[in-house]
Amino acid sequence: MNTESAQPSLAFSINRSTHPRSAEERATILAKPGFGQYFTDHMAAIDWSIEQGWHDARIQPYGPLQLDPASSVLHYGQEIFEGLKAYRHADGSIWTFRPDANAARLQRSASRLALPQLPTDLFVESIKQLVQTDADWVPSAPETSLYLRPFSIANESFLGVRAAQRAAYYVIASPAGAYFAKGVAPVSIWLSTELNRAGRGGTGAAKCGGNYAASLVPQQEASDNGCSQVLFLDSVEGKYLEELGGMNLFLVRKDGSLLTPALSGSILEGITRASIIQLARDRGHEVEERRITVEEWREGVASGDIVEAFACGTAAVVTPIGQLKGHGFAIGNPDAPAGKITMELRQALTDLQYGRAPDPHGWLVRLV
Ligand code: PLP
Ligand code: COI
Repeated sequence: MNTESAQPSLAFSINRSTHPRSAEERATILAKPGFGQYFTDHMAAIDWSIEQGWHDARIQPYGPLQLDPASSVLHYGQEIFEGLKAYRHADGSIWTFRPDANAARLQRSASRLALPQLPTDLFVESIKQLVQTDADWVPSAPETSLYLRPFSIANESFLGVRAAQRAAYYVIASPAGAYFAKGVAPVSIWLSTELNRAGRGGTGAAKCGGNYAASLVPQQEASDNGCSQVLFLDSVEGKYLEELGGMNLFLVRKDGSLLTPALSGSILEGITRASIIQLARDRGHEVEERRITVEEWREGVASGDIVEAFACGTAAVVTPIGQLKGHGFAIGNPDAPAGKITMELRQALTDLQYGRAPDPHGWLVRLV
């Protein structure tokens, strides 16, 4: 566990809300938070300009942003974001998981979207300052957390198409229970064969809003077909598994080895994915990162070689996949019980995140 706190390069000013939710209102929300529906009393903000660099780091009351209608984010989609969580441990302390990896990914996303890169120390400090201010919003019931959503937008008022010279970074926070309505029960996923979220040389490896906008119509198709997530294929050959709309994918073989699509340049490099690979290897599982076709999944399930599948991500944690469906075919069984290895890995990850197990890789960072 990493409890060091180096001095950040900018000091945060704190402007507390004069109208925070009452303790009763907060307790009602925390008793049934759902996902992404309620927000805490404060937010973090840092401004950037080409002349001043990052400046004016602050915690301010949660509330609407004032944006000039010509702001570049509203026209050319220069927006990137992150997702990570704060976990309350049994002793009341609050921790987050691998924030340096989220900071590094936000920097990679920024460089792809021509936005300024926020230094890692400021990213981590923004999370710390916000969670310290809104610590009462971190729930303590099993499987709950405070979901943190850092994001950055271009906010220069200019309609020429070029990288904006003004930007802002914010963090908002939302108490969270399970992402899927049915909790950790197996989900069905839908194979999108016509529409892709990302292409070669595109922004698939960046966490930018546009990728999610591109996933909404296929996600709707998934939902119309009784599935909770959409699975995308590579856009060049339309053959290789990539990832789901908001999660990475793993298959488990009967010999206990794991398979996951290799990072292709159009897949988001999930921090949960990397952590699962490490935890699985720690537990003696072989993990292969390589190209996997839909055919290989179908044949593997038919022959009994592929016995489990799961999705993983910050919001979804580890969610078993019961079935893959597409036009005219279905693989697996929607009523199949959650896989054993899937659930063991889920337990290993959440035990570490909630402080119930040691943290041999030093992934946890104390916030409060
Ligand atoms: N893939 C996509 C498209 C995502 O939106 C996410 C969620 O952030 C992931 C994968 C998983 O990433 P992580 O484990 O870092 O949350
Ligand atoms: C996350 O897991 O943090 C994501 O961004 C996924 C999103 C679908 C909520």
